[in-house]
Amino acid sequence: MCGIVGYVGEKLGLPIVIDCLTRLEYRGYDSSGVAYVDNEDLVVKKQLGKLNNLSSNLKNKIIPASCAIGHTRWATHGEPSIQNAHPQQDENKLLALVHNGIIENFNNHKQKLIGKGVKFTSQTDTEVIAQLLGRELQKVLNTGDNYSQNKMHSTMHSTSSLTKKQVLRAIHNVINSLDGAFAFAVVVKGMDDCIFFAKFKSPLILGKGIDENFLSSDATAILPYTNKIYSLMDGEFGYIDKKKIEVFNSSFKPVKVKFESLQIEPEQIMLGDYQHFMHKEIEQGAESVINTLDRLSSELQNLPNGIFLNDFNLHIVACGTALHAGRVGKYIIENQLRIPVNVDYASEFRYKNPILDNKSVCLFISQSGETADTLSSLELAKQKGAVTIAITNVPASRIEKIADYCIHTSAGPEIAVASTKAYLAQLAALYAFAEHIAKLRGIEISFSIKKIKTEVMRFSKFTYRDKLGDIVKDIKEQESVYFVGRGLDYILALESALKLKEISYIHCEAFPLGELKHGSLALINRESVVIAILTQKDLIEKTLNGIHELNSRGAKIILFSPFEELKDNVYKFIKTPLVDDCLSPFVVIKPLQILAYLTSLSKGLDPDKPRNLAKSVTVE
Ligand code: AGP
Ligand code: GLU
Repeated sequence: MCGIVGYVGEKLGLPIVIDCLTRLEYRGYDSSGVAYVDNEDLVVKKQLGKLNNLSSNLKNKIIPASCAIGHTRWATHGEPSIQNAHPQQDENKLLALVHNGIIENFNNHKQKLIGKGVKFTSQTDTEVIAQLLGRELQKVLNTGDNYSQNKMHSTMHSTSSLTKKQVLRAIHNVINSLDGAFAFAVVVKGMDDCIFFAKFKSPLILGKGIDENFLSSDATAILPYTNKIYSLMDGEFGYIDKKKIEVFNSSFKPVKVKFESLQIEPEQIMLGDYQHFMHKEIEQGAESVINTLDRLSSELQNLPNGIFLNDFNLHIVACGTALHAGRVGKYIIENQLRIPVNVDYASEFRYKNPILDNKSVCLFISQSGETADTLSSLELAKQKGAVTIAITNVPASRIEKIADYCIHTSAGPEIAVASTKAYLAQLAALYAFAEHIAKLRGIEISFSIKKIKTEVMRFSKFTYRDKLGDIVKDIKEQESVYFVGRGLDYILALESALKLKEISYIHCEAFPLGELKHGSLALINRESVVIAILTQKDLIEKTLNGIHELNSRGAKIILFSPFEELKDNVYKFIKTPLVDDCLSPFVVIKPLQILAYLTSLSKGLDPDKPRNLAKSVTVE
């Protein structure tokens, strides 16, 4: 999803905005742009493609603007193009606006405005906000004239005569007419000392500095400048200048802003000695598990533990990798606690009229805490009377504010679009949640938090890179790569397939091994590469049956397993750590994450910023 940022202070604004945008690019990189007020001029610069296309265009220019906004786009309405890049402006260029979100009633507004003669220049929904706001400001500038198109240009005064209050009132009028999600920032021509903002459903953070203030889609982008942040709530809007931050609620009443200090060190969001964030974050997987397990006990104690002592029904809802973590959680809770668990894609859960009541406990897993489908499912579960618990990696995220309870993973900021360390931290939180319920109900389980930490640390330094080079050659040119496994290994196959496909663009599909013969085996031929995962001791024989079936169709099987005695049955073998069956998800995913990373590199791709994707999907 798009990233927006704003700076107002005493320093040169553009270099700061560009620097912050580099830490927002994970939210989308179809195009980027900046706007700044230079005396009476309002200047907009936009470029197609990644941010360095824009920054290289600006780098030799010293632009004395101390008030600037910036944007990096993930297109939802209108293809990636210069016309559709942000900032978007009104037809009279009174303002420039950057936006994250989707305006669902944009077309109704657009048709009405076109009917009044307004000229649009883009296909974006965002431009509608700019045009609506531009007309509101023109009304004010026309000071009481009967507001009509033919007076639009005749009596217009300079926007520098506008007061902040007048602009805020205009914004309030506009946001009350919008349906959908928005976080937007606006600079107004002639007002070179302030940035206006509004927020509804899309994230927007304010950052407080010394004689300078910031706004951003996420706090890590501005962390090198300030860790004092305020996470805006839905309906809030206002402005920042270099000394003041004023926030109003949807009734236009002032909000008392309480800044919190973000406990994240700047180096956590820097590459350090790594070439890509994804590699750094894969290597931080073990530490993420340990930190999560060390820090979440008080949050588990604060859960509504009484409900777990009686009959309750458990639902796990998430998207993508977070859902795969949820599937592991389901397997462990059902297998060890004998409590049934329903797992749903959030995008399905929210439209299936889920059967929930006051005995329902819904776990919503989201690394970013901003995923639109997951948040909508959370709101639906609350409406239906369920107890809602969020598992998230981002403090002050929306999911934390909406859910009844929150369990934080402590993976640190995850920048790469492909989730790796956060996935492991989510597993840690789910196993700790399962152990917590087991203790409450006096159930004996086969794992302990201590054992998880020991095993994860024992294998944390395994890099596998020397062993995986050959495998990369086997898969990099494949049109399709298949992943198979049984039980927990099938869930590992699902997550491994997602990792490889999203950063290498190879079609990948995971199957429960036993399901292959019911249709998918028709896909297999002598060119097929199948990655099999076998870590479950009690499923060795059954898995071997499936491997023999694949062999008989000529497939090249690459087996990831701790059981070296099986290697003669397959084309290639990668030895994985031998741990208790139920702990394999913690230690077997790493070689598969590295395989995806190396394959992406071998194809000359950017594993941190895969095409078409964004780190946090804050729109539906
Ligand atoms: C994972 O590698 C993907 N980037 C994606 O599936 C992601 O897990 C999904 O969008 C959910 O994101 P969230 O955890 O921030 O809600
Ligand atoms: N809807 C806006 C556009 O398409 C913003 C998209 C987003 O936030 O990802 O430009």
